[in-house]
Amino acid sequence: MNFNITYKPKQFNLSGLNGISDKTLEMHFKLYEGYVKNTNTLNEKIADFMKDGRVDQEEMPAYSEITRRLGFEYNGMVLHERYFENMKKGGEAEPAKTSPFYKAAEQSFGSFDIWRSEFSSIGNMRGVGWAICYEDPATGYLSNHWITLHEIGNVAGFIPALVMDVWEHAFLLDYKPADRPKYIEAFFSNIDWSAVERRLQRIAPQHTTATTKGR
Ligand SMILES: [Fe+2]
Repeated sequence: MNFNITYKPKQFNLSGLNGISDKTLEMHFKLYEGYVKNTNTLNEKIADFMKDGRVDQEEMPAYSEITRRLGFEYNGMVLHERYFENMKKGGEAEPAKTSPFYKAAEQSFGSFDIWRSEFSSIGNMRGVGWAICYEDPATGYLSNHWITLHEIGNVAGFIPALVMDVWEHAFLLDYKPADRPKYIEAFFSNIDWSAVERRLQRIAPQHTTATTKGR
């Protein structure tokens, strides 16, 4: 990433969500702003290392640590933005059956319900991280993935279409740790499917470079 870029925290108007309290959101926005700040701070440090045009041998350990941390902070920033942006007050648990996402899920998984079932199962995995439904822009196929922390498991070149935070801070003020399924249900009821579909690069799978098993 370019260390000369300074990122600004985005603002999200999400009060009044279903099952995710304003208190949780306020805390979560502050946490997100921390990722933006830390991304900028690390980039400034990297810019400082690079001021003389190279990373000197004695600088390498500190430079390496900062660069690794940048992967965590930067992905933490971007995934939170995607997460907040794919929710809205008055969202819906399911997109219209004629919608691009619904069709892409059917073509990729056999049915929307199978897609949703797997996405929710990933969200219920133990550990902190994210459940993300990606689109492969080369084929239009969707696939669901578990992301550990923020930076481990992202698929190079895939587009994060639907992003769900399953770190405990996302729901602990509203639900007990064992009640993560209730949070996932609440998340689904708030999805802004039009925001999700704006991210899709293909309207529907093209069946050109990939085929699903058994079909
Ligand atoms: Fe979070």
